[in-house]
Amino acid sequence: MRYAIVGFGKIGQALAHAFARKNIAVTVASHRPPEALAPQAQAIGPTVLAGSLAEAVAADIIFLAVPFGEHPKIAAALPDWSGKTIVDAMNTYGVPPEALDGLPSSAFVARAFAGAALVKGFNHLIAATLATDPVVPGGHRVVFLSSDDADAIAPVAALSKQLGFAPVALGKLAEGGATVHARDRTWGPLIFQDMFKKDQ
Ligand SMILES: NC(=O)c1ccc[n+]([C@@H]2O[C@H](COP(=O)([O-])OP(=O)(O)OC[C@H]3O[C@@H](n4cnc5c(N)ncnc54)[C@H](OP(=O)(O)O)[C@@H]3O)[C@@H](O)[C@H]2O)c1
Repeated sequence: MRYAIVGFGKIGQALAHAFARKNIAVTVASHRPPEALAPQAQAIGPTVLAGSLAEAVAADIIFLAVPFGEHPKIAAALPDWSGKTIVDAMNTYGVPPEALDGLPSSAFVARAFAGAALVKGFNHLIAATLATDPVVPGGHRVVFLSSDDADAIAPVAALSKQLGFAPVALGKLAEGGATVHARDRTWGPLIFQDMFKKDQ
């Protein structure tokens, strides 16, 4: 399984720290060319590999960590996203519902990535928190995962566990997933809730 993060700002780097901590290879890409990202990537860890957008979208599981308005540009990088999983870590606070055709933001994003399985996740914490070790004495930091594709959550949950998080599946985007969506000027009630699951 190949992993990538598109967007290497605050959230992209927080995610990269999680991969580096577990020595899992991940390609990171942004607006800037790989050589511009490389020093920052290497400083995070040797498994964080700076790449181009084309290299990043060759991965199987791709985290989207760009400003919401940029996602169509990433989607345009491939004509068909079949077989790939997009993890939407973006938030849309302040985006009016009519700009999303009334959909949960991740359902709107899913339409742009034709053929992909899309999972909303890793969006509910501020970047500084997400960047810290999710493994604490006696427990693991929770990440919430939701999707309209029932089969899509399992591989992202497995990766989340490998990264040290405790995944909690919330179901469909408009159902349990609504609790981690920003809608207009309202944050879903689970956003900013830094929760830990106790080890059994
Ligand atoms: N910051 C938070 O605490 C937080 C928490 C939860 C969710 N989020 C969500 O996470 C997303 C990213 O937020 P952020 O705070 O990490 O933003 P950020 O620090 O501004 O970083 C955005 C990154 O996206 C890259 N980018 C922008 N347009 C791109 C494009 N067309 N192609 C490739 N890369 C592009 C930028 O590239 P360059 O580096 O080359 O400029 C930058 O690396 C947003 O949707 C936000 O709502 C943020």
